Amino acid sequence: MVISFGETFNKVQECFQEPAILSQLTPNLQSVTIIRDVYGKIRLYLEPVKGSPPKEADITNLETCLSQKLGSYYGKDIWLPQGEQDGYKALIKVITEERVPAEWDDDTVSPRWYLLERHVAKQAWTNKNSGNTPWKQELVDQGHKPAIVAFFSFKGGVGRTTALVATSLILARHGHRVAIVDLDLEAPGLSTIFLSDTLDNVGVTDYLLEKKIQKSDWRLQNYLLSINAQAILGDFGETLRLLPAGAVDRNYLEKLARLDFQNLVDNQVPDTLREMLRELESAARPLDFILLDARAGFHDIGGLAIADLSHAVVVFGTQSRQSWAGLTHVIRRLARPLVQEQLPVLLVHALAPALRDVGRVGVLKTFADQAYQIFQTNYYYESETVPNINDRDAPFTPVVLPLLDDLRGDIALFPRDESPEEASRLSGLVSAITSQPYQELAERLCRLFGRELDKKNGVGA
Ligand SMILES: Nc1ncnc2c1ncn2[C@@H]1O[C@H](COP(=O)(O)OP(=O)(O)OP(=O)(O)O)[C@@H](O)[C@H]1O
Ligand SMILES: [Mg+2]
Repeated sequence: MVISFGETFNKVQECFQEPAILSQLTPNLQSVTIIRDVYGKIRLYLEPVKGSPPKEADITNLETCLSQKLGSYYGKDIWLPQGEQDGYKALIKVITEERVPAEWDDDTVSPRWYLLERHVAKQAWTNKNSGNTPWKQELVDQGHKPAIVAFFSFKGGVGRTTALVATSLILARHGHRVAIVDLDLEAPGLSTIFLSDTLDNVGVTDYLLEKKIQKSDWRLQNYLLSINAQAILGDFGETLRLLPAGAVDRNYLEKLARLDFQNLVDNQVPDTLREMLRELESAARPLDFILLDARAGFHDIGGLAIADLSHAVVVFGTQSRQSWAGLTHVIRRLARPLVQEQLPVLLVHALAPALRDVGRVGVLKTFADQAYQIFQTNYYYESETVPNINDRDAPFTPVVLPLLDDLRGDIALFPRDESPEEASRLSGLVSAITSQPYQELAERLCRLFGRELDKKNGVGA
């Protein structure tokens, strides 16, 4: 019998419904943790009820059932704590710290069910310090170091890159020093918004590969781009610094494939990204914000890292069931079950109905209500800590980014020729991209870090 990746959790549960296991083994168990390894294979960690260790025969029964139901997806391992002398003590500690309650877990029913996903990142096993940002939150709060903010969406094509560019322009126009980084390595797009010719751009992909080999001979400073056109930054805007994803040339796929592989082998990508951000900070010092354009999904390279690299995350959702299903996972991850504090989040209602749309109010309300519910159950640990539903700055209170006609289609923030029509197109585009909804996003982001949008008046000045 052949089963698929997506069925394995159900199969484990089915085994626990087998009459012999249900009556003999289950009553002796406090919890069942399903551990899914990088290949998708399943192992179990069982915690017995104190003083009643399960019988050998019952475990054998379970093993037989798992072998039958999971086939080659069974990792042939069931772990039980062995008491004080346990050689696996460290591992078990990691398991109990890093697992999360399974979706079907009911905390009023024994045994409890937990999941531990061992993703591409081996780090999930060894690095308990999730939230290991390149520099500490205190330094950001005191204004000594830039805030690293990841822009994250579960689905693509929701206007994430556009919103990141808009935020960076608005911040820069108000006197903040901003660097933007394209971490969407599979589908880079940031530099094409600013530059007509992006063929020779060196960027993140190159950093990740070259740094390993060339060490300090390879300097990020030499590749950091500066955007300072008056047409987009106004007369007083600060220069924007841009680190592209890398030149999408004929070597690009080869480079990406190597990165995926490297990460599998030694999981150094999160660390290297951390070093990259440090190097960026020192090359472009002083900076107020570093905005990361992060690709959707945590399974991706760096995806997991992003949640650990940033001081805050801007999460994009749209009003659809599919988007909410994915976002729920994202929000759960940002709740950082392993760390005391949740990662600060700013929720964006992306591609929201335009102002003129009939029914707009209803859609906004549905989104906001759903956001409240999902944050309540997946982001906060205790109901007392959930902010008031009317709190304008709460993580679940969305910034609404409506569909704007001027932003449809190709966004080019540079003059494509010398004509007056082109100049007027550009100025129209800059007006749209710096309009009120995006301004609100920039303001909320500043408030998240106790800063004023207008830097000249602000504490960060
Ligand atoms: N507020 C908006 N109103 C209308 N169109 C928009 C808006 N924001 C972005 N767009 C358009 O939607 C498309 C996708 O935008 P963008 O590239 O910013 O999305 P993305 O989420 O970064 O996508 P990807 O996942 O492909 O990186 C672009 O053509 C852009 O011009
Ligand atoms: Mg994009």
